[in-house]
Amino acid sequence: MADPPVTAAFPHRHLLGIEGLSPDEITILLDASDAYVELNRQAEKKRDALRGRTVINLFFESSTRTRTSFELAGKRLSADVINMSVGTSSVNKGESLIDTAMTLNAMHPDVLVVRHGESGAVKLLSEKVNCAVINAGDGSHEHPTQALLDALTIRRRLGRLEGLTIAICGDVLHSRVARSNLLLLTTMGARVRVIGPRTLLPANVERYGVEVFHDMKAGLDGCDIVMMLRLQMERMQGNFIPSIREYFQFFGLDYDKLAAAKEDALIMHPGPSNRGVEIDSEVADDFSRSVIREQVEMGVAVRMACLDLLGRNTEELGARNL
Ligand code: CP
Repeated sequence: MADPPVTAAFPHRHLLGIEGLSPDEITILLDASDAYVELNRQAEKKRDALRGRTVINLFFESSTRTRTSFELAGKRLSADVINMSVGTSSVNKGESLIDTAMTLNAMHPDVLVVRHGESGAVKLLSEKVNCAVINAGDGSHEHPTQALLDALTIRRRLGRLEGLTIAICGDVLHSRVARSNLLLLTTMGARVRVIGPRTLLPANVERYGVEVFHDMKAGLDGCDIVMMLRLQMERMQGNFIPSIREYFQFFGLDYDKLAAAKEDALIMHPGPSNRGVEIDSEVADDFSRSVIREQVEMGVAVRMACLDLLGRNTEELGARNL
């Protein structure tokens, strides 16, 4: 497989969010990712695209999928990949985010992959370094590679995004995954619905061009895709739901509520999922409907495409300061 073309195709130095990307730019990222899906299914998965380049994963928040898939993605492209363990770094001695970034920048990495608990922190960091920065999730703001891998999963299954009816259900308020997905899916012409209790939907969420529902069956009626979200307890200050039991009763996805969607509607969840909270265990494991494992597989391909496109972009775009 030839390496996908770079630079002219994706004229951005960083990937900080889906906001601001055009339909063509999103399509370029998805097309490049598609090629890597096939590579990852072969016995020999290694390519030389990023030989000699350095990728640093800098995660200030926990992660299983995103961190591991960025590491795998970098290694499959032959980059030198460093996983900074924030827990044992000098952040523990009081070093600030910016000082940490400047320190790493002095080692001449080509790409910094950053996850941080504060919305906007990754953008701030990107303004202080010379290398490409990829947002691996910042607070409740954006998680662009998750939205890309979700879109790739849908596009490969259903052949398109445009015109599909997609329900995003649950804790939309605290979810960076939801925000990136709203932006991507509406940009690509999907009809997006959000479903959740009033306390867990952002004020004026209609401004994203979505329909709003507070009843699962009404919102799922005729949907092609049911995208469930985790209750982000770690971002909640105060009580947003009466109890987990009541939340599951009204907003947890079980076969009864799923019956309102199209007969062959696909079930998605970015993970980590809490079984019995936002999704019934049997539904999550129903692989005739659930594409949760496929989402994880697509994650490696999307991250290979992003590292490849941005890791080889820096020199050309640096001078133009894009
Ligand atoms: N979906 C997602 O971001 O999962 P991780 O927190 O495990 O990376």
